[in-house]
Amino acid sequence: MASPQWGGFNPMIGEFEQKFAAYQHCAHGVAAVNGTVTLEMMLVAAGIGPGDEVIVPAISFVSTASAVSRMGATPVFVDIEPYTFNMDPAEARRAVTPKTKAIMAVHFGGPLADMDALVALAGETGVILLEDAAHAHGAEWRGKRAGSFGLASSFSFQNGKVMTAGEGGIVLTNDAAFAERMRSFMNQGRRPGYSFFHHFEAGNNYRMSALHAAVLLAQLERLDEQIELRMGNAPILMGLPGIRWQEVPAAVNRNPWYLLLGRISEEELGETRDAFCARLQASGIPVTPFYPHTLYQNPMYVGGLPHRVLPCPNAEVCVRDAFWMPFRLLMGDVALTARIADVVRGRVFEAVPG
Ligand SMILES: Cc1ncc(COP(=O)(O)O)c(C=O)c1O
Repeated sequence: MASPQWGGFNPMIGEFEQKFAAYQHCAHGVAAVNGTVTLEMMLVAAGIGPGDEVIVPAISFVSTASAVSRMGATPVFVDIEPYTFNMDPAEARRAVTPKTKAIMAVHFGGPLADMDALVALAGETGVILLEDAAHAHGAEWRGKRAGSFGLASSFSFQNGKVMTAGEGGIVLTNDAAFAERMRSFMNQGRRPGYSFFHHFEAGNNYRMSALHAAVLLAQLERLDEQIELRMGNAPILMGLPGIRWQEVPAAVNRNPWYLLLGRISEEELGETRDAFCARLQASGIPVTPFYPHTLYQNPMYVGGLPHRVLPCPNAEVCVRDAFWMPFRLLMGDVALTARIADVVRGRVFEAVPG
């Protein structure tokens, strides 16, 4: 607060970039104002534009696809696996054509997509692998952290994320030249070694502020402890007949538990997904009845924005029977988590304090 430099040139931003990149097992970080422009920064630096196809999962937040569309490129929607909620690598393989420039893996809810299969697919086809790791701070696949598998990865620090400054984002990469391209684009087309008023491309100002970096440095110090707390509490909520919780592959040895995701079997639970959500909400438990549609069912794509869709039966059924609850339900003590579990099981109906 005492610094005269609250903007994007305060050394605290560089400190955060280095610390967060190292935390996620990457060499370089470029911090920015949110996790949507960071997707655009990756796509710009990867040279993706009109005529290119980018394979994305049919289930994600809109930015995963809209960032591709904003490049003038074509998102190609493929199905998710029914219970991991992540891109089915076999479907991604089916979607590859000579126009495919990149695959955007999303680590939905925290657990990584099948990185063994997607890294192999990218290697065999020469397609760029990018990660939308907006949900996956601290997540690991066989001991390797989210964001370190492909050419680059994007994280979000938006208000609901497990690390937040209200808004914020970062791109991580192990490729120094790629990082430089992104940094120039998001800093008005400037290049190191030239004056402040030399601009080599029509860039933008996506710089993170020092205030955001300061908050995120403090959040990073607490992240490990908070992930451990959630990993300890999560099993208390599992195990109810009628709810099939997100399947976490054995290769995911660390799950930050951004979302508690599940699918309802109406027959087994004796309650529809919407009745289940209404009951929990009435009991004071925050729950969201999933996205109302797949990404390609959004009005912009239905209205004709260029895209391609492979059959996505799993995605289409999830929008009817899935739900998520936020990570903060796992941040109390064991007794509180057990009370929450009781409400989820329908054993008690009074409000849970706090
Ligand atoms: C998967 C995914 N990608 C990208 C974003 C966009 O991040 P931001 O809200 O920081 O722009 C989000 C959501 O917040 C997200 O859930």
